[in-house]
Amino acid sequence: MSLYVTTPIFYVNAQPHLGHAYTAVIADAACRFRRLEGEEVRFQTGTDEHGEKVVEAAERESLSPKEYADRISALFRAAWPGLAIAPDHFIRTTEPAHIKTVQVILQQVHDRGDIYFSEYSGLYCKGCERFLTEKELVDGLCPDHQTPPQPVTEQNYFFRMGKYQQWLIDHIKANPDFITPERYRNEVLSFLAEPLEDLCISRPTSRLTWGIPLPFDDRFVTYVWFDALINYLTGIGYPDAPDFGRRWRAAEHIIAKDILKPHAIYWPTMLKAMGLEPYRRLHVHGYWNVNDTKMSKSIGNVVRPAELVDAFGTDTVRYFLMREMAFGLDASFSAEALVARQNSDLANDLGNLFSRSLTMVGKFADFKVPVPGAAGDADRELAAAALRMVAEFRDQMHQFAFHRALQAVWEVVGRANRYIVENAPWELAKDPANSERLATVLYHLLESLRLVALCLQPIMPETAAKMAAALGVASPAGLTDHGRWGLLAAGTAITPCPALFPRLDKQTGRAPAAAPAKELPAKAAQAAKQEETPAAADAADAAGLIGFDDFQKLDLRVAEVVAAERVKKSDRLLKLTVKAPEERTIVAGIAEHYQPEEMVGRRVIIVANLKPAKLMGVTSQGMVLAAKDGKALVLSAVSGPVAAGAKVS
Ligand code: MSP
Repeated sequence: MSLYVTTPIFYVNAQPHLGHAYTAVIADAACRFRRLEGEEVRFQTGTDEHGEKVVEAAERESLSPKEYADRISALFRAAWPGLAIAPDHFIRTTEPAHIKTVQVILQQVHDRGDIYFSEYSGLYCKGCERFLTEKELVDGLCPDHQTPPQPVTEQNYFFRMGKYQQWLIDHIKANPDFITPERYRNEVLSFLAEPLEDLCISRPTSRLTWGIPLPFDDRFVTYVWFDALINYLTGIGYPDAPDFGRRWRAAEHIIAKDILKPHAIYWPTMLKAMGLEPYRRLHVHGYWNVNDTKMSKSIGNVVRPAELVDAFGTDTVRYFLMREMAFGLDASFSAEALVARQNSDLANDLGNLFSRSLTMVGKFADFKVPVPGAAGDADRELAAAALRMVAEFRDQMHQFAFHRALQAVWEVVGRANRYIVENAPWELAKDPANSERLATVLYHLLESLRLVALCLQPIMPETAAKMAAALGVASPAGLTDHGRWGLLAAGTAITPCPALFPRLDKQTGRAPAAAPAKELPAKAAQAAKQEETPAAADAADAAGLIGFDDFQKLDLRVAEVVAAERVKKSDRLLKLTVKAPEERTIVAGIAEHYQPEEMVGRRVIIVANLKPAKLMGVTSQGMVLAAKDGKALVLSAVSGPVAAGAKVS
């Protein structure tokens, strides 16, 4: 086995939300990707069902803990197919097999002398279900729950975690990939620089009965973390399954930063005490906020995956989650950002490219893959870029850098769109002498799209399948065998397909009724029209009108001004630093109308693909749009909250 991927098992005291969905989506995408690499993969998720919090939540609903856990666990299980999340195994900690495994392990570690009985006095946080150290408190409160922990003196069982501290430090240092990204590895190492205390692993039944009884003392149940972490072993048949060792060697856990300590410290030391090798890698992602605010039930801003899927569709949600969050860092969800991504990246960039290309192959090549002629520089460049995309995509996906993997794909989508404009197939079609050139251009477009669809399979499985079907290629296909240039056979039938993504109304987030999803996006239809009527195009030229393709050469973007200052020795020029979404410098002739201080925070529209120019010694990478009204000058702006970098069209 090459990869055994797990998500955390989610607590059943809350219903599935965006944060859970993100972890499950990336776990699914990682598995689909590695299968596409031809590897044997196993994917496990599930629910964590013991502990005080579950008892309290069940009481609020007047249910027994088991009835309550059954209900919420089923909600998690049912949430995943809507996002095309397909685990091989869904585990529950209340299953008899898991209970047995936990007890076998406790007995084993106890017999080896790594569990001892002792009295402990400390500050206990109910929310965390653990004792906190003085150092962890902020103003006397638990930093996560904002409540004062209670002083508790109790007899309990303890795991000799401290004994394995040096071994763990050495292991992390010797295996730079063990905890990724690096910021979390550093966080763990700095935590381990202080002495590591032993871990309390029991709760007296006088305080909690909803847990797994200790096999060597039935006055106690197991602390939730010692129970929950073991799910990763139960799910692959520890200790007896013949396949266990092979699977465990391929184990990679995905978590968010909230549960770094149990996974990076408790778990490896527990495994060591059991005589098992640590897992292979731990992938740690950041937190999703909503409109830059922490997601919470009390604020009422919890985002439910099912509602997103109903409104936007499976693939848009998957794409958004993986594109918008830089793996390892926090990200902010907003409906506006999702609509902006759908409209610019999916409907405009990818959808438009796909439908324009198929429309042209229909019109100019009778819906068949044409026989390409000799490739010129532009064709070779597109082919080389598409192959670089496949290599970069694979590389980034192996590193869990989903956002970068997608950037690599969209780089080629953009390039292919420009290739259409630059090679104007509709112009070539006017003269039969150009038929070989036309065939070459169309072939290069189709072959690039085949490779784009191939890469998109793990990210957007439905869309990739639609694209592959339209291009007449089998899906799914392996990346090694199919990630080469020139596999699309001439003569293959191309089947036109409905627009991949509708453009959404920015206000309502819905597809406008007049332009149903089944039709070509407005722009593609417009472009197709222009391609159809050469006589009308000539008349338009004469009237000084520009074609849609000319307009499309402009890359207009929303840019956020993050810094502004006057250009030395100039009354007219301001030097602006803008995010669109990457930072760049733009020199704007607006200093007589705007003060630098009033520029910061504004969102303006810029021309992002102007050749750089030097103004008073400062290189300007673009131009800010503004309206002139007599002597007055008014900057362009957007009328609603739009992400910096969003395309204006
Ligand atoms: N039951 C424990 C995990 C035991 S694993 C052996 C638990 N459960 S949880 O329901 O609280 O899930 C925490 C995990 O849910 C996070 O690590 C992350 O995967 C996901 N997320 C929950 N909220 C999240 C965000 N707001 N943002 C991103 N992911 C988050 O902890």
